[in-house]
Amino acid sequence: MIRTMAKEEWEEVGGLIHLATNTWYVNNGKPPVFSCYQNDLKFFCEVYESLDPNCCLVAEENGQITACCFYHPRPTHFSLGIMCVHPDFYGRGLARQLLQEIVTRASDSGKTLHLISSAQNIDSFSLYNKYGFVPNEVFQDMLLQVPEAGLSFTQQELSGVRPAKASDIPKLVSLERSINGFDHTKDLEFIIANESGHWNCHVMEDNQAQITGFLCSVNHACSKIIGLGAMRNHTDSLALIKSHLNNFKGFSPLLLIPAKEKELVQALLKMKAKNIEIHMTQSLGNIPNKTSTGFFMPTFLPE
Ligand SMILES: CC(C)(COP(=O)(O)OP(=O)(O)OC[C@H]1O[C@@H](n2cnc3c(N)ncnc32)[C@H](O)[C@@H]1OP(=O)(O)O)[C@@H](O)C(=O)NCCC(=O)NCCS
Repeated sequence: MIRTMAKEEWEEVGGLIHLATNTWYVNNGKPPVFSCYQNDLKFFCEVYESLDPNCCLVAEENGQITACCFYHPRPTHFSLGIMCVHPDFYGRGLARQLLQEIVTRASDSGKTLHLISSAQNIDSFSLYNKYGFVPNEVFQDMLLQVPEAGLSFTQQELSGVRPAKASDIPKLVSLERSINGFDHTKDLEFIIANESGHWNCHVMEDNQAQITGFLCSVNHACSKIIGLGAMRNHTDSLALIKSHLNNFKGFSPLLLIPAKEKELVQALLKMKAKNIEIHMTQSLGNIPNKTSTGFFMPTFLPE
């Protein structure tokens, strides 16, 4: 049976995400993805449900949740994240059933469905590929280690960067829409409001006080990621990335960097960032129009 997740199931679903993902990676000779406690992954449910209530589907068999998947309706698109099947139920068509339901919901609303899938996870790639999703853009997952004492940057390196304010949101949305066609108003409102204390958003302003880029981050036991962001050029993006690093002293935040942004990739490698995985965006439907140059740094949280 496919149904909506109930609030009292957040812990069980968090446990399923931990078990399904780590088991898949370990079975395939890779280190586990989540080194946090199982319970920490309830955070995904808390965040996703505050943004998009009732947008997590679960499969249930004999009272057990055997699979789950979240989806995120946005004004410009739908996206899908964290598809997980209990290891005892891999290969039995559960992911396909959840995907079918989400595709129907996206298609009923007339929107393209997007997702980010790991290039190393052939089961995940194939699930979407068989359904007709087409890969678009390649991202390098890079980990950047921040020493306990933090990193020191010159004023020049961070020049133009400041914390985002709620009143910036319309400008951030229109910047991102012009770069990748996506509207993340809801996500930016959630991040900038920062009610749980785990979020940050910085903007880059030029000499005319025009916003030319923004970058968010999340710092929680289950996820330390620098993204979502949209920027006009790699210089701004490097300054924005640097502006987040000292919020992660003693840790290695994850960045999803567009592989084609050579200068940025090289600058991060020079800072001793490590490539740990490759992800790609995949879409079912038309890709939104880009009306100006720039690039996008996605995240796994909040969308
Ligand atoms: C990836 C994952 C969700 C797949 O779930 P699943 O329930 O085993 O997948 P399904 O049984 O529904 O099969 C998916 C489809 O892909 C097809 N498929 C699988 N491997 C394939 C391959 N190498 N080539 C072509 N098709 C393939 C299957 O035939 C099936 O299609 P069908 O239903 O038309 O026959 C599951 O392995 C999992 O939870 N992994 C850990 C978590 C994870 O990595 N999630 C994804 C990223 S967030």
